[in-house]
Amino acid sequence: MPTLSKLLQNNRTWAQSVTQEDPTFFDKLSQQQSPEYLWIGCSDSRVPANQITGLMPGEVFVHRNIANMVVHTDLNLLSVLQYAVEVLKVKHIIVCGHYGCGGVRAALNNQPLGLIDNWLRHIQDVEAFHINELKPLEGEAKCDRMCELNVIAQAENLRRTSVLGDAWKRGQSVEIHSWIYSLKDGHIRTLQDAIKEQ
Ligand code: CO
Repeated sequence: MPTLSKLLQNNRTWAQSVTQEDPTFFDKLSQQQSPEYLWIGCSDSRVPANQITGLMPGEVFVHRNIANMVVHTDLNLLSVLQYAVEVLKVKHIIVCGHYGCGGVRAALNNQPLGLIDNWLRHIQDVEAFHINELKPLEGEAKCDRMCELNVIAQAENLRRTSVLGDAWKRGQSVEIHSWIYSLKDGHIRTLQDAIKEQ
C-alpha cells in the first residue's frame, strides 16, 4: 500500500517538525484540550477547518457532515455541541458552509442518490422556505445563494437548541457565527452578525 505508507511517512515528518518548533507541544496537548472554537462544517475534503483558519491541533473542536447541517434530532451533532459548550466551554461556534457544495447542489437537483436523500431533505426544507427568493435564480447563482441561505438556516437551528438556550440562561458567553468559504479564492466571508442570545 504505497499510498498509505506515504501518509504514515508524512505523519512522522509532521510530528518531527512540530516538535522541532516546540519540544513540549505534544506533552502539553496530551494533558488537555481547551479550544475556544467549535467548527460545524461540510465533510468536503476541500474545506479543512484547521488549515483554512490557520489553527493548530488543540485550537478548534470540529464536527463535519454533508452540507454542514444542524438537525435537531442528530444525536451525533448534539453530543458534540453539548460537550463543546458545557465541558470545553467554547466561546465561538462557527457554522461554515462553502460555495459549490455538492450536498446543496444534489438537494437542488433532487436526483435520487440513495440513503443520503433523507439527509438532503433537510436542505430541501430550507429551499422550500426561501422558494420566492430562489425562483428567479438559476445554475451556480442559485446554488451559491442556497449555500448561503443554508448556513443561515443552520445557525438559526443552533440558536434554538436546548444546549445553547441553557448556556445563555446560565449567563455563559457563547456566540454563533455564520461563515461561507469560497473554493475559488480560499477566502471565508461572514454572512450575518453573530448570534448571542436565544
Ligand atoms: Co459541501
